[in-house]
Amino acid sequence: MTIIDELRSLEREALAAVAAAGTLDALEAVRIGYLGKKGSLTAVLRGLGALSPEERPEVGRVSNEVRVALEGALDSKRTTLQHAARAERIAAEAVDVTLPGRRRPVGRQHVLHQIVDEIVEVFAGLGYRIAEGPEVELDYYNFTALNHPPDHPARALQDTFYVRDLSGDRAAVEGESDVLLRTHTSPVQVHVMESQKPPIYVLAPGKVYRRDVADPSHLPQFTQIEGLVVDEDITFGDLKGTLEHFVHAMFGPERRVRLRPHFFPFTEPSAEVDVSCAICGGQGCRTCGGEGWLEILGCGMVDPNVFRYVGIDPERYTGFAFGMGAERIAGLKYGVPDLRLFVEGDTRFLHQF
Ligand code: PHE
Repeated sequence: MTIIDELRSLEREALAAVAAAGTLDALEAVRIGYLGKKGSLTAVLRGLGALSPEERPEVGRVSNEVRVALEGALDSKRTTLQHAARAERIAAEAVDVTLPGRRRPVGRQHVLHQIVDEIVEVFAGLGYRIAEGPEVELDYYNFTALNHPPDHPARALQDTFYVRDLSGDRAAVEGESDVLLRTHTSPVQVHVMESQKPPIYVLAPGKVYRRDVADPSHLPQFTQIEGLVVDEDITFGDLKGTLEHFVHAMFGPERRVRLRPHFFPFTEPSAEVDVSCAICGGQGCRTCGGEGWLEILGCGMVDPNVFRYVGIDPERYTGFAFGMGAERIAGLKYGVPDLRLFVEGDTRFLHQF
């Protein structure tokens, strides 16, 4: 066998070994076996020097061909094996995202905010704008400018949370402070009328505070929604029609509205508004305590004295105001027997809305 034949058979054998190598390690072993320092092709190439000058060019050319062919085969096989190894690793590390996984509990808007939004929506439809005022108020806005006489019982300590003003100039003795947590949203009426000229059509939702112990029908902090309209020729009929529209939108067109004379210092005349009981339709049942009616809000025509405090001419303008408790409205709408449920944050309760 000539040396050329030997080279060709080495080539076939080496290419077969390359083809048979199943891993990168095995392929590297093949490379070392043929092309390494002690490799069989290396040995042949080393032996070239011993050949005769006639043989040398031909053998040199063929052996170079074999080396190039082998290196090419090694390279392409290496690439193939590397890709296969990568694909295998990707497959092994893959995360099955089709599994259902753990669901995060999804929250929702609190039922009270839903109710406030619904009420706002009804009055927005009538052209009212939203107004806001501070929860920490001055006695002037909460009481004085709302025509409360100095000795009015609502100013009594039991009802109002007074705030000590540590900055100095206000009285620090509890009960003598003129800074307080607003007991109703009516002070927003005063802020609005101080800063806007009629026509005024506003709705003011917000938190209010009273020194009450929480029980099924009382909360020390609750939510009121105040309405105020000031314009020329506003009558008690406008107030009644507005409230009927609201009750029908909120509770259904079959519900009836009743106004009972009442007293508020800042409205004259004043009324409390009842809605017919959803359960008995007015006959009287346990839900309405045998009354047939459920109280939902207080209202009245803006007292001219209030207009005088804010500098609106009571000869030219008239207006009405109303105030309702959002917890009470929500309680009536959904038949919630205890207002404390609205503030306890029990998700078993909240998820029903
Ligand atoms: N502010 C009154 C209350 O909290 C409700 C009210 C508002 C009455 C506006 C008349 C007009 O009881």
